[in-house]
Amino acid sequence: MNEATLCQNDEALAGELAERGHLVLPAFLPSGEVAALRDELRTVLAAGGFRPATVARHRLYAPEIRSDLIHWIEEDQAGPATRAWLARLERLRQSLNRVAYLGLLDFEAHYALYPPGARYARHRDRLRDDGRRVLTSILYLNEGWQAEDGGALRLWLDEEGMGESIEVLPRGGTLVLFFSARYWHEVQPARRERLSLTGWFRARA
Ligand code: OGA
Ligand code: MN
Repeated sequence: MNEATLCQNDEALAGELAERGHLVLPAFLPSGEVAALRDELRTVLAAGGFRPATVARHRLYAPEIRSDLIHWIEEDQAGPATRAWLARLERLRQSLNRVAYLGLLDFEAHYALYPPGARYARHRDRLRDDGRRVLTSILYLNEGWQAEDGGALRLWLDEEGMGESIEVLPRGGTLVLFFSARYWHEVQPARRERLSLTGWFRARA
C-alpha cells in the first residue's frame, strides 16, 4: 500500500469516526506486527517494567475497580514495532485534525496486562483532573482469543451508559477507537492473560 492510499484510508477512517463516535476495526494490524508488539511488551514485562494501574485523581490503587498492570511507553526507549505503531497513530492524528478539526496535540500510551480474572469496572476515560483526553485507542495483542476466554470490552452506545451496548473480544490486531469523554465502558474478566496497547489522543487542557 502506498502513502497516498494510506492517507486516503486514514481520512475515510477519521471522517467515519467523527461521525459515529466510535469504531471497531478487526484485523487492523497484520498478525506479524501484532506478534512483534507482543514480544516488545513481554520484554518490558521481563525487565520488571509493569506496575499495578491506579485510578483517578489521587492515583489510588483500587483493585476492585481496576486490576490490570501497565507500563507507560516512552517513545525513545520503545522497540521498533512500538515506535512504528506510534508513527501509525501520528498519521491518524494528523488526518483527524484535517478532517474533523479535533485539535489533537499528542498521544500518551501504555501497554496493559490483565492477569486471569482481572477487570476494569465501568468507567469513562476522561479524568476529572485531566480534560485533555479526547480519543481513546485500544489495540489488542492476543493470539487466538476465543469467545470462551471472556475478557470482552463492553462499550455502551448511549451517553448515560444505561442502554444498548456492544461487546468486543480482545483479538490480536483489533483496533477500537472512541471519544473518551462520551463512552462508558468496562473490561470483563478473562480466563487467560489479556494484552493490549492503549492510548489517548489529547488536546490542549
Ligand atoms: C482503559 C480501558 C479497555 C480495554 O485502559 O481505560 O478501558 O479493552 N481499556 O482494554
Ligand atoms: Mn477505559
